[in-house]
Amino acid sequence: MSESSHYWYRACFAAEIPRRGSIRVSHGRLKIAIFKTAKDEIFALEDKCPHKGGPLSAGIVHNNCVTCPLHNWDISLESGKALGADKGATARFKVQVSDDVVMLYVKKTPSLSVV
Ligand code: FES
Repeated sequence: MSESSHYWYRACFAAEIPRRGSIRVSHGRLKIAIFKTAKDEIFALEDKCPHKGGPLSAGIVHNNCVTCPLHNWDISLESGKALGADKGATARFKVQVSDDVVMLYVKKTPSLSVV
């Protein structure tokens, strides 16, 4: 991962994310689900289940994982990997929170748009 190809993207405010829930943000064409656990930890994954692309942002957050709403795979919020017997992973993003602002470390894209 080249440092010059990525940057910290201001995604949302931490207070906007429901505890044990998520919000979805767009970065260019990429959809990113930002989750908050019961302990107020924040994680970010591409909003695309590694099984068949289900919207992880609509899943149920428990402990440090999310259960996909389509076929109930559990995905680790820390690694993006499917848990248990299931295989596969979705992209995860580094997160920083400062003064309630959630920043994601994402790849620069020329198609970046404001939504
Ligand atoms: S699409 Fe997520 S479990 Fe099938």
